[in-house]
Amino acid sequence: MTAKIISGTEIAERIRQELRAKIADLRSKGIVPGLAVVLVGEDPASQQYVRNKGKACDELGIYSRTIVLPADTTEEKLLSVVDELNKDPQVHGFLVQLPLPKHIDENKVLNAIDPGKDADGFHPVNVGRMLIGDPLFLPATPHGIQEMLVRSGNDPAGKHVVVVGRSNIVGKPVAAILMQKARGANATVTVAHSRTKDLASFTRQGDIVIAAMGSPRFIKADMIKEGAVVIDVGTNRVDDPTAKKGYRWVGDVDFDAVKEKASYITPVPGGVGPMTIVMLMMNAVTAAYRANGLEY
Ligand code: GUN
Repeated sequence: MTAKIISGTEIAERIRQELRAKIADLRSKGIVPGLAVVLVGEDPASQQYVRNKGKACDELGIYSRTIVLPADTTEEKLLSVVDELNKDPQVHGFLVQLPLPKHIDENKVLNAIDPGKDADGFHPVNVGRMLIGDPLFLPATPHGIQEMLVRSGNDPAGKHVVVVGRSNIVGKPVAAILMQKARGANATVTVAHSRTKDLASFTRQGDIVIAAMGSPRFIKADMIKEGAVVIDVGTNRVDDPTAKKGYRWVGDVDFDAVKEKASYITPVPGGVGPMTIVMLMMNAVTAAYRANGLEY
């Protein structure tokens, strides 16, 4: 079997169209949704993410503000910036790009964000609300994965989803979202990780496999059941002397081999990446509706 490609680029464009209508509706009421992003330091991958978020806002007509702070910014200073954004009425949602420099306590910063403006859904209140099935903001990458499954005709209801990776940003929340008694969920979920014994014996049971452990091309064809749906969350930069830039981006899945066995697969780039950005935009728009007492 050769897999059909689930194009995150195409699905994200369809969602952007839906968002354009919502943003026009808000603007007709005199409301401009606003999203702020705080970046501390000069990590090139983080700089790239933050640039992409700003571009996506501009393209949709979302007011965007990017606050770049030097790597030696104190925790106290960052907390005061968070406090200002909590109070700023032009900013409906915001996020602090992770990872933060080592001298800053990430949990302390996430705890300081107003849960009602937490566009990433990383505040413990929002993590808890997601888990109990009463979400306010869902984290963008796991929510994007759910949308890709549903919109490609692979509703996870009743399926066995095997998640590989247990990060707070992808593995844990995607498991929590897909196990809910809710539309686009109702899956049976297994979470495997770096300490799982005989990992392949688990991944081979997956009707849907979500690879989110950050190891280039780790998931091989013999680890996947024939006809499985494979979602690749990895973005790993690998050296490639034949590429113009000397490197290229690969996922956590050995794409060329796995696509001959899967029924559906997401590419890297052009898969989960574009979905993450558009789902963040959706959070900014829903935040603007909510802040004005309106239904999205
Ligand atoms: N770093 C990697 N992914 C993310 C994300 O989705 N949000 C934030 N704030 N930082 C990240």
